[in-house]
Amino acid sequence: MKVSMTDVMTDNAPRKIILDCDPGHDDAVAMLLAYGNPQIDLLAVTTVMGNQTLEKVTANALAVGTIAGMTAIPFSAGCTRPLVRDLQTAGEIHGDSGMDGPRQPESRITLDERHAVDLLIETIMAHEPGEVTLVPTGALTNIALAARKEPRIVERVREVVLMGGGYHTGNWSAVAEFNIKIDPEAAHIVFNESWPVVMVGLDLTHQALATTEVVDRIAAIGTGPAKFVGELMEFFHAAYRDAQGFEAPPVHDPCAVAYVIDPSVVRTVKAPVNIELRGELTLGMTVTDFRTPAPQGCNTSVAVELDHERFWEMVTKALENIGEVSLEAAAETSRIG
Ligand code: BDR
Ligand code: CA
Repeated sequence: MKVSMTDVMTDNAPRKIILDCDPGHDDAVAMLLAYGNPQIDLLAVTTVMGNQTLEKVTANALAVGTIAGMTAIPFSAGCTRPLVRDLQTAGEIHGDSGMDGPRQPESRITLDERHAVDLLIETIMAHEPGEVTLVPTGALTNIALAARKEPRIVERVREVVLMGGGYHTGNWSAVAEFNIKIDPEAAHIVFNESWPVVMVGLDLTHQALATTEVVDRIAAIGTGPAKFVGELMEFFHAAYRDAQGFEAPPVHDPCAVAYVIDPSVVRTVKAPVNIELRGELTLGMTVTDFRTPAPQGCNTSVAVELDHERFWEMVTKALENIGEVSLEAAAETSRIG
């Protein structure tokens, strides 16, 4: 997306983000929202194991990028396993491929050779302090490693707006959410650095339901990318109904992107958050302290309320903006670039 000099000087400038993800049905929607919204300047897409193995989620990210024509954006693959623990995946929600449902096109995008951690560091360091926002929608492994490898990124990042955790419920245990539970040590690092962290957790994302009305609105767009999202939602709907008893699937990850686009769509409250690393029943819980007003210097906020209508309006608008994409043209641009 083109950014003018006037934009850079004002707060109207598109927000520069790096999306670190594990596609994933809802990660795919997050990618499309980020790419299709003019208020976002998507600097890179990095992948991390989670919903499936790194190999599978990276292939899925490239497929989504191909479908949307994201040929000018670097894609790179990151960590194959959590910092300390063995890999756990979420096949019961995302299927064997990690993005079951639609037929996936062959990728027309070449993967950047750099490790995601290096791409993250290089991109952040190449921008002014306060310019780059990180939007992790998977385990926090890449982000934690990047902070350890190049600690100067912590001061340069504007904020970390992550999908993960929750203050009143879990989905991978009674109290822990998947992205945090599979790599709690990485989450511990990210939540305890000094950068601002916005936790867009289950309390919020369980409000982002893809109802029949929403799915119909997306189908009415009629383009290839919109049909792709429709097929993703069909699979996601059945998986969430069977695995967790939802009537409509909660589409978690684009909520973090929506917050970056327009914070008024997601109400947040400042509160200290820390990660449980030792609990027998509570491993990976994002322990949130609402007892008193957040203390001075508290750098964590939690998302509490979603404007459902405006959120889905953003997603449908982004798909309309992406429009119809010719895979042949995408391949051509990729070769030239
Ligand atoms: C999170 O876990 C993954 O399965 C989804 O993609 C989302 O990021 C929800 O708990
Ligand atoms: Ca995800």
